[in-house]
Amino acid sequence: MKTFFDTMAAALARLQQPRVLVIGDLILDEHIEGDVERISREAPVPIVEERLRHLTPGGAANTIYNLAKLGAQTTAMGVTGRDSAGSDLVQLLQQAGVETSGVLAVGEVPTTTKTRISAQSRQSVMQQVLRLDRLPRGPLNPETLATLNAAIEAQVALADVVIVSDYGQGVVVPELIETVRAAVKSHDKIWIVDSQEDLRLFHGASLLTPNKPEAENNLGYRIHDEATLARAGETLLAETGAEALLITRGDEGMSLFQIQGPNASVPALNRAAVFDVTGAGDTVVATLALAAGSGCDWIEAMQLANLAASIVIRRYGCSTTTPAEMQETLQQMQRKEAPHAE
Ligand SMILES: Nc1ncnc2c1ncn2[C@@H]1O[C@H](COP(=O)(O)OP(=O)(O)OP(=O)(O)O)[C@@H](O)[C@H]1O
Ligand SMILES: [Mg+2]
Repeated sequence: MKTFFDTMAAALARLQQPRVLVIGDLILDEHIEGDVERISREAPVPIVEERLRHLTPGGAANTIYNLAKLGAQTTAMGVTGRDSAGSDLVQLLQQAGVETSGVLAVGEVPTTTKTRISAQSRQSVMQQVLRLDRLPRGPLNPETLATLNAAIEAQVALADVVIVSDYGQGVVVPELIETVRAAVKSHDKIWIVDSQEDLRLFHGASLLTPNKPEAENNLGYRIHDEATLARAGETLLAETGAEALLITRGDEGMSLFQIQGPNASVPALNRAAVFDVTGAGDTVVATLALAAGSGCDWIEAMQLANLAASIVIRRYGCSTTTPAEMQETLQQMQRKEAPHAE
C-alpha cells in the first residue's frame, strides 16, 4: 500500500529548479542585541549597548529567500527605498543567488524595516525591549508603478510560477494585480497569491494561501470546526474564482480546497519541537511554488510545504530549508514511525 511517506518521497524526488517570479512587499528584518548596564539620565530608559546586529529578509523577501535556498531560479520584483536598508536587503538576496534587477530603489518610500531590539542586563535573560518599524507613509509614485507594470509582462513570460506576496505595504495595488492577471492568463502560468488583504482582488489565481485569520477576515466569520472550515473553503473558492485554496491553520496544519480534484487536510508535523513559527507561512508559499513548478499536483505540493514548515518552525527567526534537509527529515520520521522495519 502506498503510504503518506511514499507520496512525499516521490514528490521530493521530483523537485527541480523551476523559475519563480515573486512580486511583492520586500521587508528587511533587523535584529539588534545588546547589554544594559545603565539607565539614561535623559529619560527613565535603559541604555542598550549594541553587541550584535543581524539582518534577514522579511515579507515577500523572505518568500524569495526561501525559494532561493530551496533551489528555485528566483527573480524578485518590488521596491526598496534609496537607503542602506535597501542595499543591505538587495545584497542578502543577491548572495542567495536571486535575480534582483526587477527591484527598484525609489525616493518616495523608505525600505520597509522592522527592527527588534533585545537586551540583557547582568542578572537577566535576553528579552525584547522595543520593536521599531519604518513603513511607507504614502503611496508609490505613478512612475514607479508604471515601471513595475511595464516589466511584469516580460518577467511573467520567463517564469514557470508567479507569486504575488502582499504584505499591505503598497506594491500590490489593483493596477499591478490587473497586469499580473493578464500576463499569467496570456502565458498560461501558475499564479500563487499570498495576501493579507482582500482575496477577491486576485480573481482567477491558481492558488490562494491565506492563514486562518486572513481567511476569517475575508469571510466575516470564525472557522472553529469542520463545518465552518468546509464552508470557508467553498465560499472563498466561489468568491475568488481561484482554482485552489490552501488555508494554513498554524498548529492545526493546513487544508486544501480544489475546484477540480479532491479536498485534503494534513496535520501539523513536529508540534512538540516548535520554537518560532515566524515566517513559516512564507516557507509554505515558497515550497508550494517549487513543487508546482516541478510538476507536482497541489496535494503533493501541500505535503512538501507541510514538511518544510515543520523544519523551519524549529529555528529562531524567519528561516529556510533545502530539499536535502527535507529528505533527511522525512527519513527520520519514517524511522520513528517504523523503528523495526528495514
Ligand atoms: N505551532 C505550530 N506547530 C506546528 N506547525 C506549525 C505551527 N505553527 C505553524 N505551523 C506550520 O506552519 C504552517 C504555516 O503557519 P501559519 O498558518 O501560522 O502561517 P502564517 O500565519 O502565514 O505564518 P507567517 O505569516 O508568520 O509566515 C502551518 O500550516 C503548519 O504547517
Ligand atoms: Mg502569512
